[in-house]
Amino acid sequence: MVKINENYLKLPGSYLFSEVARRIKVYSDAHPDAKITKLSIGDVTRPLVPAVVEAMHQAVTEMGTTEGFHGYGPEQGYDFLRDVIAQYDYRDRGVDIDPEEIFVSDGAKSDCGNIGDIFGVDNVVAVCDPVYPVYVDTNAMAGRAGEYQEELGRWNKLVYMPCVQENGFTPVPPQEKVDIIYLCFPNNPTGAVASRAQLKAWVDYANENGSVILFDSAYEAFITEDDIPHTIFEIEGARTCAIEFRSFSKTAGFTGTRCAYTVVPKELNRDGASLNKLWNRRQCTKFNGVPYVIQRAAAAVYTPEGREQTRANIAYYQKNAQVIREGLSQAGFTVFGGANAPYIWVKAPHNMGSWDFFDLLLDRAHVATTPGVGFGPSGEGYIRLTAFGDAEATAQAVARIQALAHHK
Ligand code: MLT
Repeated sequence: MVKINENYLKLPGSYLFSEVARRIKVYSDAHPDAKITKLSIGDVTRPLVPAVVEAMHQAVTEMGTTEGFHGYGPEQGYDFLRDVIAQYDYRDRGVDIDPEEIFVSDGAKSDCGNIGDIFGVDNVVAVCDPVYPVYVDTNAMAGRAGEYQEELGRWNKLVYMPCVQENGFTPVPPQEKVDIIYLCFPNNPTGAVASRAQLKAWVDYANENGSVILFDSAYEAFITEDDIPHTIFEIEGARTCAIEFRSFSKTAGFTGTRCAYTVVPKELNRDGASLNKLWNRRQCTKFNGVPYVIQRAAAAVYTPEGREQTRANIAYYQKNAQVIREGLSQAGFTVFGGANAPYIWVKAPHNMGSWDFFDLLLDRAHVATTPGVGFGPSGEGYIRLTAFGDAEATAQAVARIQALAHHK
């Protein structure tokens, strides 16, 4: 009889965003007249920019010709995309990344989950708390998280680093030795950022302890302050201890188009092995690359028109973030994030729990959010709102929350 991966049986309930979607659907079915504004999952709403659409059209046309047809591409991504990524995302910031260190993929979510394939089961994994649930759940699936403790809402073998108001939602390296460290800045879900000095402390820790930092910088395009690093590789020493994940999802509206990349420096060795080579081996075996048409679309993001147009979309979402942040502050809520990130982290009033606040806003303001506790125990008492909605709908949602706050 076949044996299943029993780690899957230990996973609690459903994936956070599926559970949120389920609850919104239950509410909508029971209240068909309620027009819900979804500021829950961080999914973009602005259409693809003209430069990207044009590049896709051209690539589709090419694919319909004998000369322009592309079959299997390189598993690591086409040079035309890896080269512009290296140039615009790194060299222009004074960071030297070789195109061969860039692996194009179908999403940062997939890469953050799949990267675990190249690490042994016995590593000690540290995550921020609250945390993007993919880091936790994929380690649980791989058997690195131990047992789920329902009453505590945490896994007994993971090291949780509380990210709370007192530490500005940014953790310092732990006293104990950990092997794999997930960091995400600008942060999902709190919207916090890490300074150069804070990241340097992590890089030094990782190099001293032989750890690896898995750095998710999917939201770097939302940084507005000049001195906040956009990539971990701006930090001296990161090339020997860090892997970075990037995505076109939030920067160029690719959540439904799917394209991202992961940077694994050639100097990153552990246990006598090159992690760049291991990841290359993993990708060549399990992944057949991102479609040619999509990679052409992603490359168009770096053209002068593409850059200008995507910057305008980002500015649109940044304005939403400001509307949410300021609107909820004015209504008396304690609000974090939203200044360098598309996420706004809001404290529930009167010591309410996250799910109760979620239910209240859904029922009384018709605004769907994500309960903070879904991201980890330290998220209890918070909800997360995203800035990726339609501007008018977002402003109206904020006005309804304000009316609710004033009414209470
Ligand atoms: C989120 O809402 O946290 C993200 O959009 C989910 C994701 O990127 O997978």
